[in-house]
Amino acid sequence: ANSAAAGGPPHKVMNIAHRGASGYAPENTMAAFDKALQMKADYFELDVQMSKDGKLVLIHDVTVDRTTDGTGRVGDLTFKELRRLDAGSWFDPAFAGERIPTLEEALDRYRGKIGILIEIKNPELYPGIERKVAKALKKRNLHKPRNGKIIVQSFNHDSVKKFHRLLPSVPVGVLISYRDEGISDKELRNFAKYADYVNPNKDMVDRSLVKRIHRFGMKTTPWTVRDRAEADRLKSIRVDGIVTDYPDYVHPR
Ligand code: G3P
Ligand code: CA
Repeated sequence: ANSAAAGGPPHKVMNIAHRGASGYAPENTMAAFDKALQMKADYFELDVQMSKDGKLVLIHDVTVDRTTDGTGRVGDLTFKELRRLDAGSWFDPAFAGERIPTLEEALDRYRGKIGILIEIKNPELYPGIERKVAKALKKRNLHKPRNGKIIVQSFNHDSVKKFHRLLPSVPVGVLISYRDEGISDKELRNFAKYADYVNPNKDMVDRSLVKRIHRFGMKTTPWTVRDRAEADRLKSIRVDGIVTDYPDYVHPR
């Protein structure tokens, strides 16, 4: 079929490796970010929180229990204590010795090589985290869009607004958890005042929502895709990006 018959020219979707290529390596570790790069993802996503002594660390849960060999809340542990933990063995013994990375390490290692989608996780627990993320980006000149593909997002929309005020040149996204009632025009109008992306749970996203987000001048990168059929469906409704544990499911076949 020619592309017009298929509904317009083939469209390039951003391939975003969720917590790194977390289907193949332990999430939020350098091993998973390396894998995302190797697999030619356009971006990888990471979750940033703060240690007791104020370091920006990459980990998804509020506690270290699931993804390390330690226990306790991230914010109750010092960086030194967090760094001692093994963040790889829980996934597969082949990844024993992987450490919890810092945001700064990830920026230094991957800037210019692959885009980075930064999720500010649980910001309500970490007063001042937006300022620290902004500082880490600015120090590396990454607040200038031409210097690297950086997007910042959060489920906490006050945190997104706060970050946007600190560093308006960095694109920001609002994350939306699944809800039956969808997203109203009124909400979209509000998001459009500061956000570049509206990123809902994929199960909320149909062609009509994608069109409405676009109509308000924003983009959408729904999450989290763990099968090929879902990647194909999201492509067909013309989302701008797909957040996936398996970057190979998004590449054209
Ligand atoms: O990029 C969106 C996605 O990461 C949000 O969900 O729970 O995996 O952080 P979660
Ligand atoms: Ca995340």
